[in-house]
Amino acid sequence: MTPRRGRVRVAVVGLGYWGPNLVRNFSELPDAIVTSVCDVRRDALERIRRRHPGTACHASFERVLVDPAVEAVAIATPVATHYGLAFAALAAGKHVFVEKPLAASYEEAEQLVSLARARGLTLMCGHTFLYSPPVNAIKELIEGGDLGDIYFVSMSRVNLGIHQPDVSVVWDLAPHDFSILRYWLGESPESVSAVSRGCVIADKPDVAFVNLGYRSGVVGHLELAWLAPSKLRRTTVVGSRRMIVYDDGSPEPVRIYDSGVSFREPESYGEYKLSYRTGAIISPPIDSREPLLLELANFCAAVQGRSTPVSTPELALEVVRAIEAVDRSLGLDGQRVRLAPERDGAEPPDALVRRVASGVRVQAGGR
Ligand SMILES: NC(=O)c1ccc[n+]([C@@H]2O[C@H](COP(=O)([O-])OP(=O)(O)OC[C@H]3O[C@@H](n4cnc5c(N)ncnc54)[C@H](O)[C@@H]3O)[C@@H](O)[C@H]2O)c1
Repeated sequence: MTPRRGRVRVAVVGLGYWGPNLVRNFSELPDAIVTSVCDVRRDALERIRRRHPGTACHASFERVLVDPAVEAVAIATPVATHYGLAFAALAAGKHVFVEKPLAASYEEAEQLVSLARARGLTLMCGHTFLYSPPVNAIKELIEGGDLGDIYFVSMSRVNLGIHQPDVSVVWDLAPHDFSILRYWLGESPESVSAVSRGCVIADKPDVAFVNLGYRSGVVGHLELAWLAPSKLRRTTVVGSRRMIVYDDGSPEPVRIYDSGVSFREPESYGEYKLSYRTGAIISPPIDSREPLLLELANFCAAVQGRSTPVSTPELALEVVRAIEAVDRSLGLDGQRVRLAPERDGAEPPDALVRRVASGVRVQAGGR
């Protein structure tokens, strides 16, 4: 694709909690212009109309699809609607940015990736943490070997609410952790086991504890909850040379501990030697730019053919695959579930395009 200049003309769909952040950040980008917004709720549209008087407001997604001025659609609607809206937008020839997770099942996510490839359109999933400066600083440290071999990663993502109407806490919060882990480690989990509980609403897990095993030997743990007295976004990465505590939102989000334990083979029976090291703690300066702004700038650059998405379709697929494995483990009373080796198994584009052309009708906004 020949890179082009000129602002990307975007429609933002879904103006609830998160969508207005997309509108604000696209509006700040020199490479984008929000031509229209869409929500089925009139009050949500009204709020945006007051702040952005020149922007067209639509209560029907069909109006966005038929508008030739819209070249890209950014979707921030409930997870269950992602597939229908994204599929219809791609089928209408629009580039698509869709909030995490890409879709509500691997099968749906695969179809979106295939369709985007077949049409030569950008499809990017909003895995915002891939654009977070602390996450990128830690990625550099891991890849540069500063931590040594990674032993384990433990992540806590808990706060009070917000209970989502259509998905569990796993589908809501784990996309962040799974995307970060895939980005840092370059591999997907090989096994998953999980327990959860629907404390407030039965059958709607609002707390989950997930254990992960990786082929490399790394083990991981996720603590996810909509029920916690205070907001915590804390990750500990422990390596053979150094350790890191990443506290998102703290003024010093990344702390590197020059700490560790060395093991020396016993010289005689029962006399092994451990030496503990607690050295300096360093908080490197971290860029404070908003990850969402960087993410949407990357999307616009990809649409313009100037860059490729950091949040790749492959990563988005792997995130959905890992979440489905968590659900399978939950369905098996916490049994350990093995994930098949990663596959590049999206449906061949030709077959999918033929199905679209032969009248597979995808309802905008529903499954
Ligand atoms: N990247 C992040 O850090 C982050 C943070 C929060 C939410 N999200 C994601 O954003 C998405 C939305 O989450 P939210 O918390 O804003 O949800 P929300 O329920 O607050 O808002 C969703 C909005 O979509 C509208 N909507 C639903 N169906 C529609 C349709 N067919 N056409 C037009 N509008 C429709 C609803 O009326 C509502 O206003 C989810 O995918 C969520 O995972 C991402």
